[in-house]
Amino acid sequence: MNVPLIRGNRVVLRKIASSDLDLIVSNLNDRIVNRFLSTIPFPYSLKDARYFVSRVCTRKDHACFGIESVETGIFMGVISLSRINVTHRKAALGYWIGRKYWNRGFGTEAVKLILGFAFGKLGLKRVYAKVMTKNSASMRLLVKAGFKHEGTLRKDILKKGRFVDMELYGLLNGEHRVFHL
Ligand SMILES: CC(C)(COP(=O)(O)OP(=O)(O)OC[C@H]1O[C@@H](n2cnc3c(N)ncnc32)[C@H](O)[C@@H]1OP(=O)(O)O)[C@@H](O)C(=O)NCCC(=O)NCCS
Repeated sequence: MNVPLIRGNRVVLRKIASSDLDLIVSNLNDRIVNRFLSTIPFPYSLKDARYFVSRVCTRKDHACFGIESVETGIFMGVISLSRINVTHRKAALGYWIGRKYWNRGFGTEAVKLILGFAFGKLGLKRVYAKVMTKNSASMRLLVKAGFKHEGTLRKDILKKGRFVDMELYGLLNGEHRVFHL
């Protein structure tokens, strides 16, 4: 779907452009970034990035944003809502940020901004995320945003030939501080 530009103090969420393709590829061709991403291939090619931008982000049930630094204007990562279900008013949350930008609060702000969009503009009731059990940084980020741990999905996905457990986190509209835009 078409997404608006959402300004925060440190990051801007905006539509992904074809000029972002090279940075998407270079950031995702990092084993440490890729290891906890369930649906992203490794190695990651320009063809993969083109498919993502032109075929995945354009779906009606997807809202994909590029995460840009306010300070530098540099594209740092992607945050998205997928499986947007207008009947049940819920969606799945996913995100990644290039490794050199980690642990500076960019992910936290990006999550808070997209939640404002999800609960405000889209009128969703529930946003959920599935996180690999070893992905402590991602779980920390979700907890900081107010998400609750709802359970463990045993052997939920196949990653590099092995079934791995996923932790399910959920947040309901009204449970978090309001970030309506
Ligand atoms: C998850 C991710 C987006 C976080 O982005 P970020 O910009 O570094 O996030 P923030 O700086 O806002 O917050 C990260 C928090 O995790 C904490 N953290 C980082 N590494 C950690 C670890 N190994 N164990 C526990 N906590 C950790 C940080 O201390 C910080 O918490 P704090 O603010 O309480 O100190 C980033 O690590 C990433 O892209 N990872 C790879 C892709 C990925 O895993 N995506 C999510 C799939 S579910």
